[in-house]
Amino acid sequence: MEELILLTGFMGAGKSAVAREVAKRLSWKVVDLDEMIEAREERTISSIFESQGEDFFRDREHEALKDALNMRGVVVACGGGVLLRGENRAILKGHALFNLNASFKELYRRICGTGDTRPLARCNREELEKLYESREHLYREVPSQIETEGRDPEVIADEIVKRYFSRGEAV
Ligand code: S3P
Repeated sequence: MEELILLTGFMGAGKSAVAREVAKRLSWKVVDLDEMIEAREERTISSIFESQGEDFFRDREHEALKDALNMRGVVVACGGGVLLRGENRAILKGHALFNLNASFKELYRRICGTGDTRPLARCNREELEKLYESREHLYREVPSQIETEGRDPEVIADEIVKRYFSRGEAV
């Protein structure tokens, strides 16, 4: 079995926290696509969005994803927009990809409860809900869905590890 797990889901779904817990359980490393992009570009995601726009960022995200798919012994926390591009959805097929779910109400609380710096969030509830609704179908299309609402990252990570090892049966 390929030693690679990928996590997706809307902003605030808990991808980074859950990735850390999954990696701890498997003694693997965490790879965060946003951090990979920031390190390569030597600036923050916000500054990339500001100076070069979303398309440029999506190109870098695609490259980072392609590279991450060649890694082993890693849990990859993808950015919340990774499923927007068909080419990303295509190359993710066949890999152990888990989508982390929560209701919009809960996601909004998690994203905006403590102030946020994500360029696409801006914490305007209506705008953010529109963004969520425009993407919901993409998250739902991921075969392996993980419910996160009211659950701690540790519990979610246990479920992911269990389902990862039973892949081929039913995930
Ligand atoms: C984005 C989500 C962010 C980051 C960028 C765009 C999105 O990642 O990739 O700000 O389009 O949903 P997180 O989901 O890790 O916040």
